[in-house]
Amino acid sequence: MFSSGVFIDRYIDVDNDYPILDERQFDWAKIKNYFPIKDYPFIHLNSGSAGVMPQQVVKALVRHITEMNSKPPYEAWKDWQEIKAVNKSDLANQLGVQSDELAVLRNTTEGLNNLIFGIPLQAKDEVVAATHDYPFVINALEQRVQRDQVHFTKLDINLTDATDEEIVANYRNAVTEKTKILVLTHITHREGRILPIKAISDALQKYDVKIILDAAHSFAHFQYKLPNLGVDFMATSLHKWLNAPHGTGLLYIKKERIKEIYPLLSADATRTDFMDKFEYLGTRAFHQEIGITAALMFQKFVGEQRKEERLQHLKQYWTDQVKNLDRVYFCTPLNPQQSCAIASFKMDGVHNLLGKLKKDYKIHAKSVGTDKGAFIRITPNIFTLERDLDVLVDAIHQIHKS
Ligand SMILES: Cc1ncc(COP(=O)(O)O)c(C=O)c1O
Repeated sequence: MFSSGVFIDRYIDVDNDYPILDERQFDWAKIKNYFPIKDYPFIHLNSGSAGVMPQQVVKALVRHITEMNSKPPYEAWKDWQEIKAVNKSDLANQLGVQSDELAVLRNTTEGLNNLIFGIPLQAKDEVVAATHDYPFVINALEQRVQRDQVHFTKLDINLTDATDEEIVANYRNAVTEKTKILVLTHITHREGRILPIKAISDALQKYDVKIILDAAHSFAHFQYKLPNLGVDFMATSLHKWLNAPHGTGLLYIKKERIKEIYPLLSADATRTDFMDKFEYLGTRAFHQEIGITAALMFQKFVGEQRKEERLQHLKQYWTDQVKNLDRVYFCTPLNPQQSCAIASFKMDGVHNLLGKLKKDYKIHAKSVGTDKGAFIRITPNIFTLERDLDVLVDAIHQIHKS
């Protein structure tokens, strides 16, 4: 089941931490029990902001920290090089790419900044993104406008109502011969909408534009292979949906294009063609990176397909029970092709809905601002049970009545 025997024996108590769950015994309540977040005095429905680790990953991480402090830290790092390679190979398999097309960084933000600042631009070149992209992406592109006098086309698409075809048309119309960078978000942070990445990249094939995918929310949330999306550049976070240690992320660049991107921090000149040029980060929390192994194990233990189906089910479970109430509106298209775990709603005429959910119902959710007003983003996870969502559904019905 797991790829790295010696390392696993040293850090992970497989028999106790991963009891064999056969199909008939699989029970989400047991999975919830593995997560320390179960003791949080609120129902945690904000996995959209950051993931949390199951106890198996926390335990492994504590062992890694102990080891890194039990010897000169670079000795630990040297010993961990093999496992670093195994992790990359596991991650590459999941994405359908090669290990030497990946760099392990701290998060999506770091990966995206490497790409956005690493692409040489000249005055009057164009860059394209949209208001639904993550604010840090917009900040980075605006800095390039200031530094390099490029033109920034910022799309504003109504993601609640637009069809996939309309979204593709918006991007196709925005890109020109001068466009050098296009940022696309795989799952948007406010609506949780899954964008039609492949159709957009297909529509832009004739242009020499670097398409950068912000996959912060999609990796380990639902299954896909990167080569099927037609993008050569991608960044994601492993501390979101993989439940890996905080401060772990990935940068992907298609092999033959690695040399086109400058790393944000300088690297050895001989490494121009290699992904490790992005990993010249100095001394850092090496143990966090090695904790990825335990997160990968946990994910295999749960099962990728089972996880994706569960997340779809959880969204459907609560949204089906409230979506027909008058004054309740979703900015998320709820069908499984266009969203997975994340869905955002609002209720007209109700002041401080987020505060009410927290104070009166002990529900921790997140408010997201859109041009259609503030929505409440609900993001369940594999530690969320139907009975947690029943509290949410009852709360929405009660607030709606009052
Ligand atoms: C779409 C999107 N991109 C990027 C990020 C940044 O992720 P991180 O903080 O892990 O770098 C987020 C964070 O929520 C996000 O939702």
